[in-house]
Amino acid sequence: MISAACKTLRLGAYEIKGLWLAPMAGYTDIAFRTLAREYGAAFTVTEMVSVRGLVRGNRATERLLLTSPLEVPSCVQLFGNSPDEFYRAAKMLDCDVIDINMGCPMPKIYKNGDGSALLDSPELAGDLVRAAIDGSGKPVTVKTRLGRRMGETTADALIEQVEKAGASAVTLHGRYAEQRYTGQSDVAVCREISRRHSIPIIYNGDVAADAKDSFDGFAAVAVGRAALSDIGIFSGVCANAYDVALRHMRLLERHFDDRYVVAQARKFFVHYFKNTRGGRALRSAVNAAASPAEIYDILLRERNSTDAE
Ligand SMILES: Cc1cc2nc3c(=O)[nH]c(=O)nc-3n(C[C@H](O)[C@H](O)[C@H](O)COP(=O)(O)O)c2cc1C
Repeated sequence: MISAACKTLRLGAYEIKGLWLAPMAGYTDIAFRTLAREYGAAFTVTEMVSVRGLVRGNRATERLLLTSPLEVPSCVQLFGNSPDEFYRAAKMLDCDVIDINMGCPMPKIYKNGDGSALLDSPELAGDLVRAAIDGSGKPVTVKTRLGRRMGETTADALIEQVEKAGASAVTLHGRYAEQRYTGQSDVAVCREISRRHSIPIIYNGDVAADAKDSFDGFAAVAVGRAALSDIGIFSGVCANAYDVALRHMRLLERHFDDRYVVAQARKFFVHYFKNTRGGRALRSAVNAAASPAEIYDILLRERNSTDAE
């Protein structure tokens, strides 16, 4: 079981042991993070939130900042590149831990000097960590990649600076930003980097339940995409797709309006019912559904008919 590779990790007053859920914009909202915690995730992080949006009081960021009582500690991920904005945004947050995105490869992010652009500005990266700690007094973690350009492993310089600035841990995705999500995440290069630094490194990239790699040399492991189709990965126990979908619907409804619930159900059910019998028909029925009530009906009807077989 992969979670056995995770050591006890200290973030401020909190002790964390087990698999982490990696942040994924558009997916890891409060509903999915609660579900992941219920299924055994040891640490969860919000979708990335703009420091500028936060300090300007942008209403759209409110939904992103919601955290669940199950998230102990709770963690909000911020992105931006201005120490002053990081200081002010960090002061406003009431989560337990702050994570800073230094790995996002999307052009609209790095062209602004945010996300993976910080891999080319390690000193600024350190200043952002310092500003977030000064503004919040909370543990600050960083999420990054190997470097911006293939083969140029600038993560070392970034890790050195953020550690010096007082960061508590670094999540390292074993790809270069220019690869985006192509190729393989390189666990061996991540391990070499981890050995060169004393700050705890959390490995991330392509981890699935059938992982053959050893995760020795890391403080913990963070799982992203594999958790969308296999929430049981956190506890090592296979989860029933209908149970997961029904519970996810309840959690979505608790926090969001019908439109958002329906949109998320359509998005997630592609993963939940990818390999189940009758999954394709279920997904097309859900795509045609206009309300959460219709989606419940479809799920219950399909579950009963599979139970009866
Ligand atoms: C749809 C999607 C959205 C993502 N959004 C974020 C994000 O907001 N912040 C972040 O640090 N990483 C983000 N990532 C990167 C993931 O956290 C993770 O590093 C990457 O998917 C590799 O891990 P995996 O192979 O386990 O998925 C995102 C990835 C995906 C696929």
